[in-house]
Amino acid sequence: MNNIAVVLAGGQGKRMKSDSPKVLCNVLGEPMLEWVISACESAGLEKLCVVKGFCAEKIDEYLAARKSKSEVTAVLQAEQLGTGHAVMMTEEFLKANAGGNVLILNGDAPFIDAETINSALDEHTSTGSAVTVVTAKIDDPKGYGRIIRGANGFEAIVEHKDCTPEQLAVNEVNSGCYWFGTADLLEALGEITTDNAQGEYYLTDCIEILLKKGRTVGAFTSCNPSVVLGANDRRALLELNNIARMEIIGRHLDNGIEFTCTDGVSVGRAVTIGRGTVIHAGTELRGNTVIGENCVIGRNCILENVTVGSGVDLNNVQAFDSVIDDDVKIGPFVQVRPGCHIKRGAKIGDFVEIKNSTIGEYTAVAHLTYVGDSDVGANVNFGCGVVTVNYNGEKKFRTVIGDNAFIGCNTNLVAPVKIGNSAYTAAGSTITKDVPDNALAIERGKQDIKADYAVKKLAHHRQKLEDKKNGKK
Ligand code: UD1
Ligand code: CA
Repeated sequence: MNNIAVVLAGGQGKRMKSDSPKVLCNVLGEPMLEWVISACESAGLEKLCVVKGFCAEKIDEYLAARKSKSEVTAVLQAEQLGTGHAVMMTEEFLKANAGGNVLILNGDAPFIDAETINSALDEHTSTGSAVTVVTAKIDDPKGYGRIIRGANGFEAIVEHKDCTPEQLAVNEVNSGCYWFGTADLLEALGEITTDNAQGEYYLTDCIEILLKKGRTVGAFTSCNPSVVLGANDRRALLELNNIARMEIIGRHLDNGIEFTCTDGVSVGRAVTIGRGTVIHAGTELRGNTVIGENCVIGRNCILENVTVGSGVDLNNVQAFDSVIDDDVKIGPFVQVRPGCHIKRGAKIGDFVEIKNSTIGEYTAVAHLTYVGDSDVGANVNFGCGVVTVNYNGEKKFRTVIGDNAFIGCNTNLVAPVKIGNSAYTAAGSTITKDVPDNALAIERGKQDIKADYAVKKLAHHRQKLEDKKNGKK
């Protein structure tokens, strides 16, 4: 069967007061549209058409950057005349993929899930329906289309603004997600009008049209009421973020992860955490971050696409696109920029920045140090204030440091440069030439001693004060 999906993403969402389309507003760091498309992909749908309108180029940009499992195309709705009008724009896509069913979804309702999509499809096909509306019962139905049921079952969807007082009291609402027989949808779309409170083409009118034609129309009530939740303004968006945040934290709690406090904690959908790990306040785990067992993460860490081993302790660390092996301790106040591999047992202390570098096993970079574009061996000790000078204003160069080397405090390592195994650099040295294994490199001025300097300086100073007192110039 040729089953396809159409995602409506043309609206501006005026109340968001954003320069981007509403569907690109983030929930847990991912655009709402991403949640919807990935739910379709998880449900096994292979052909999707996105309806773009307001700021269409931003939707194109987002789709171009996306690694899609499915075939995702987009069509333009130049003027936003309603959800029914948006679907009309996909006529060609529908005709090219006719002979099956089409799932229509709102791009601003991120919590639709694969199970709801597939269970609704099962009901849709087993009842031979022309359309199956996904509904849910919620406490506050304000703003949603109401599901009106009569003696013969499902009758209509009435938009909030078009409701009578009795209809307003109904708490079963339209999620904006429907399975249509593709041919039935094409037929009904041709008959909808703008005769309603908002003067728009309502997609929901297709349902009444099909009913009047005597077709079977069904409503599938999802057991996940969040599937209907959408965001039309920033308050609702914050609410969606809170719901998603606590839902995901809840799942990790069930897996044996400890959260000492959830203030400011957010964990992305794809993140995995091993049992026995403790997450402290202010910690954001983003993207494809993977954390092992028995780690302590936080307070105040941001990890984005970072693979962390087990027994790792991170305190006030920001790390991006990097790998941190077992038993590493980092922090506080450390930035690990993309392209780093911090190997087992290494210790990175306060006010250190590491970029595009490998730090070998049990190496210590304890304080106030910048390590960029470097390959550092095992058991190396960095003194306080070391800088790898990796950039000459034009090009970047690498620094290589052998095992067991000792880099003195305030050493500048001017790349490209190589420090041998077990080599030393003296404090305050600016090293521009390679240092052989086991050698010591010193590069600084000879110390000059001015004996009794302070005594002479003070005598001169006292004399001046004395002269002033006595009125001498
Ligand atoms: C719609 C449903 C309502 C349902 C609710 C669930 C209609 C008439 N009403 O209302 O029954 O309870 O969703 O969230 O369908 N869009 C376009 N082009 C347009 C207009 C909208 O692409 O011309 C897109 C929007 O970007 C959005 C989606 O369609 O992603 C829904 O539009 P919106 O205006 O938010 O519909 P609701 O009023 O929420
Ligand atoms: Ca909406």
